[in-house]
Amino acid sequence: MHPLQCVLQTQRWGPLASVSWLLLRTCRAHSNVPSTACPSLERQQEDGVRKDFSSRLASGPTFQHFLRSASAPQEKPDMEDPPPYLTVDELLGRQRKVYLETYGCQMNVNDTEIAWSILQKSGYLRTRNLQEADVILLVTCSIREKAEQTIWNRLHQLKALKTKRLRSRVPLRIGILGCMAERLKEEILNREKMVDILAGPDAYRDLPRLLAVAESGQQAANVLLSLDETYADVMPVQTSPSATSAFVSIMRGCDNMCSYCIVPFTRGRERSRPVASILEEVRKLSEQVLQLIHERDNICKQIHLPAQSGSSRVLEAMRRGYSREAYVELIHHIRESIPGVSLSSDFIAGFCGETEDDHLQTVSLLREVQYNMGFLFAYSMRQKTRAYHRLKDDVPEEVKLRRLEELITVFREEATKANMASVGCTQLVLVEGHSKRSATDLCGRNDGNLKVIFPDVEMEDVNNSEVKVRAQPGDYVLVKITSTSSQTLKGHVLCRTTLKDSSAYC
Ligand code: 5AD
Repeated sequence: MHPLQCVLQTQRWGPLASVSWLLLRTCRAHSNVPSTACPSLERQQEDGVRKDFSSRLASGPTFQHFLRSASAPQEKPDMEDPPPYLTVDELLGRQRKVYLETYGCQMNVNDTEIAWSILQKSGYLRTRNLQEADVILLVTCSIREKAEQTIWNRLHQLKALKTKRLRSRVPLRIGILGCMAERLKEEILNREKMVDILAGPDAYRDLPRLLAVAESGQQAANVLLSLDETYADVMPVQTSPSATSAFVSIMRGCDNMCSYCIVPFTRGRERSRPVASILEEVRKLSEQVLQLIHERDNICKQIHLPAQSGSSRVLEAMRRGYSREAYVELIHHIRESIPGVSLSSDFIAGFCGETEDDHLQTVSLLREVQYNMGFLFAYSMRQKTRAYHRLKDDVPEEVKLRRLEELITVFREEATKANMASVGCTQLVLVEGHSKRSATDLCGRNDGNLKVIFPDVEMEDVNNSEVKVRAQPGDYVLVKITSTSSQTLKGHVLCRTTLKDSSAYC
């Protein structure tokens, strides 16, 4: 069947006339219907019509035109450009509040962020209060029957809410997004008349349009699956402010066709997101992490960035994936983002093929960066590794150890210099317990995760000067730093305090 027929058939699809519907699968199903036998005259006429029709079709659109973006993967529909039946203004969210509820897997968590990113750009606001929502969107799951039942039950609850809002100036709109929309399509609209929009997993870019159509009181649906939609250019927005993790989606869909599984049918063909867009998202997340470390007093300002070597040649042999220059650039960036950040690293002395010059470059990296903490090791060949199979452990043991000693000496010199800057400062210290070396001393960590040792004596509490207290593990104390070594700071305690009470010290 030709694509044009496909369009005609969708248009003739009566029961859903009021539904804005993109249903490719239905069209494909029609193409399998065999043509019925007919008398010869009719057949001749039909042949003529068919030839004329065929020649017109030849110059018409191809099947690819009906697969969104299949021919031009980078071109995504421009939401600024409204369809003929909507104005630009109607496509905008106009501050209406969206309440998103996520069910199921991590992909759905990511999809929720993508959907929200699209709606936010369109001028919608987000609410976490169901009662004040103008739009409720459920990001649904079809993986097992029970998952769908949960959604049906939820829809029954929402029905009451919608009925209450029927007479309101802005009526409540309800949408089903994701796998259940894809699997059940019109069945949802027929079963639950209160559902206004349906959007399958590849149709989230269409949400502003679907919601605009729903505004006029019609049901709207887009359950078209795409061969290449990865939302590569849509930066997901973290939906939960208390979230401690973020998902970076690298692919969508599934081609495995495990015999029990619905996913290939609800999420469509497997496709990978372009590497550049994954990297960009990870870069943005890393930036956010740096910013948080900078902003928040309850996050330690310390970053461990294992360099392993200061020689780009050795780094390549190690297959680390970065050069010395890229590493140094990152260090500069971190220092600019988090002034006063404490840096630590791992280094290996005497890796396969390491020359004296390579070693000196590691020495120079230690000097250049001036780490606060370091973990340095002599290389030992491990079985099964790539180096074991492909490289030669050719640096003699005594050379490895001599180089390691040199690295340790340089690291200590630089760390001592860096730590000297703390002498005379008052630092906030999180108490861990007694010092391993002396029962009369306490040990804790400063904001750079460096060990701070101080005598275990009675002190005032910042919020109650009347009583004297002894610091306990988990307490915050202010310590005046009096001396340092490469590994630890020493000082005397001033008082017990809290994170909140201790404004920035040194
Ligand atoms: N030999 C020496 N050091 C090694 N490390 C890992 N493998 C080896 C090895 N075969 C070091 C690296 C790593 C740290 C955990 O241990 O510096 O970052």
